[in-house]
Amino acid sequence: PVRRTTVPQIRARKGGAPIVSLTSYHAHTAAIVDRYADFILVGDSLGMVMHGMDSTIGVPLDLMIMHGRAVVRGTSRALIVVDMPFGSYEESPNMAFRNAAKVMKETQCGAVKLEGGARMAETIRFLTERGIPVMAHIGLTPQSSHVMGGFKTQGREEDTWASHIDDARAVAEAGAFALVVEGVVEPLADKITAAVDIPTIGIGASVNCDGQILVLEDMLGLNPWVPKFVKKYGDLGPAIEHAVSDYAEEVRARSFPAKDHVYR
Ligand code: KIV
Ligand code: NA
Repeated sequence: PVRRTTVPQIRARKGGAPIVSLTSYHAHTAAIVDRYADFILVGDSLGMVMHGMDSTIGVPLDLMIMHGRAVVRGTSRALIVVDMPFGSYEESPNMAFRNAAKVMKETQCGAVKLEGGARMAETIRFLTERGIPVMAHIGLTPQSSHVMGGFKTQGREEDTWASHIDDARAVAEAGAFALVVEGVVEPLADKITAAVDIPTIGIGASVNCDGQILVLEDMLGLNPWVPKFVKKYGDLGPAIEHAVSDYAEEVRARSFPAKDHVYR
């Protein structure tokens, strides 16, 4: 039996071969990603990508659990990390533990991720000491977009760097096993990577991070608009469009189903 990548294995990759990760929200794409990624994130970006929401604020815990289960079922190799959605962990370490334990029990995932730096350190320690591995997430944290005034690249002003570096140190010190660094200028991402002894996972950050992550649907070309940091490795939007339009045409022309597609 293939054993899944473990949290200590990811943790041990600091400064080593780059960690490969992508998001996935459902079984069939996860099965493909599973053959290449070290870990798969069931990101709360699913609210926007899969469910048409304007932000991740409205994502309920049950939706994360539903998608988390699908991804765990579809995979056998990668570590599965599930995002804690807005409102499910910030209030107190007790609340965070209760909801993170529910996620782990009901999805059988291997770890959770939550947003926030120094302010979440106490919670990260509380969870880790009680058996829940935590991946942290700093820099541009989409669940705080209302406070930040939108999805804004962080660290453009050098006098803000120290607080981001403090955040990274605080979550590492609290026991996070890895750290997503999102939407920060490259030199700040490099300083963060150098400042902590846990792997940094970059998205819109730097090639020098210990790993990279992208939203799968973005890199596959399913979203017409993507931010600058997304490289489109595929062009699935137009491919799906062609398939659907060919189907519609053939149904209207009564050329589908053809002889091969009917039972005689
Ligand atoms: O929700 C998500 O997809 C994420 C990644 C972009 C890191 O948090
Ligand atoms: Na997220």
